[in-house]
Amino acid sequence: MRVLITGGSGFVGRRLCESLARQGYELQVVSRSPEKARAVLPEGCDVREKATAFADAPPEALVNLAGESIAAKRWSEAQKREMVDSRLRATGDLLALCEALREAGEALPRVLVSGSAMGYYGAQKQSGEGDTAVTEETPPNDEFAHRLCARWEAAAGDIEALGVRTAIVRIGLVLGEGGGTLEKMLPPFKFGLGGRFGSGRQFMPWIHRDDLVEAIIFLLEHDSASGAYNASAPHPVTNAEFARTLAGTLNRPAVLPVPAFVLKAGLGEMSRLLLTGADMRPERLQQAGFTFRYKTLDRALEAILAPER
Ligand SMILES: NC(=O)c1ccc[n+]([C@@H]2O[C@H](COP(=O)([O-])OP(=O)(O)OC[C@H]3O[C@@H](n4cnc5c(N)ncnc54)[C@H](OP(=O)(O)O)[C@@H]3O)[C@@H](O)[C@H]2O)c1
Repeated sequence: MRVLITGGSGFVGRRLCESLARQGYELQVVSRSPEKARAVLPEGCDVREKATAFADAPPEALVNLAGESIAAKRWSEAQKREMVDSRLRATGDLLALCEALREAGEALPRVLVSGSAMGYYGAQKQSGEGDTAVTEETPPNDEFAHRLCARWEAAAGDIEALGVRTAIVRIGLVLGEGGGTLEKMLPPFKFGLGGRFGSGRQFMPWIHRDDLVEAIIFLLEHDSASGAYNASAPHPVTNAEFARTLAGTLNRPAVLPVPAFVLKAGLGEMSRLLLTGADMRPERLQQAGFTFRYKTLDRALEAILAPER
């Protein structure tokens, strides 16, 4: 099967491409910097600058992961606009490709797996506040992260409206070697200077990168899969548990909490990424028969950090 991936050069996309290439998929990747992307992608990947440039080689499946990083810079108004607009542009280009294919009388892709995030739900109840489980049915809290994800999902809906089966992945914190948030968190923890953020009662739904890649391929291949899927491990943890487990895996203490006011002062609105969360459960993925290889955080961190110790 020929699969087109936006964001294929990223932390998740690179591993997805490796896995798809191993399984014999033919890969097309959209990247703003094709030369750089080719250098990190499996050999034989067809890399072009825009999705519409693939109209002469119609893909059978689409995976949509591209977007300005959520955690790279302070959330100025301009940065927030780019976080939204970059995702709407990438998804809009996929729509334009589908429309061009339809006009040319070509077959449309059979399936789209499109990104979203735990931020869809916004800040939800913390541990100790009663029933906290957040499934795909839980009403979101209206805030910037929710509006970003809702617009991203709605843009994918325009492709679905053309008749392309569409599954949305609401991705939790992705854990893997050599990148992502974990790599940024590691230095203080390695020096025994790690700790919880704020009260530590906020949930941090997480997923091992290999499980996310498998879940995306599962949704590509399951003809009945459509709608929103929470893509996070079945056992989410609070931020305090995350800090304890990470420190324990590294055989270090986790005794230095970072107070909420320090994070708010340093990061502004972006501090919500660290201070709020949702007890997200992968209800629909599990109902569909997907099995997670890394169900608990200690197993995932053991696997990822083994070479660090
Ligand atoms: N990693 C996580 O913990 C996590 C959690 C929840 C949701 N997600 C979402 O899942 C997706 C993939 O995550 P990731 O960690 O692999 O992200 P990533 O490493 O930041 O990669 C995203 C890719 O998107 C492209 N991109 C970046 N900025 C862009 C812009 N301004 N305009 C257009 N394209 C841009 C880049 O490709 P080129 O430079 O080649 O164009 C980049 O390789 C992201 O949309 C992310 O928001 C990730």
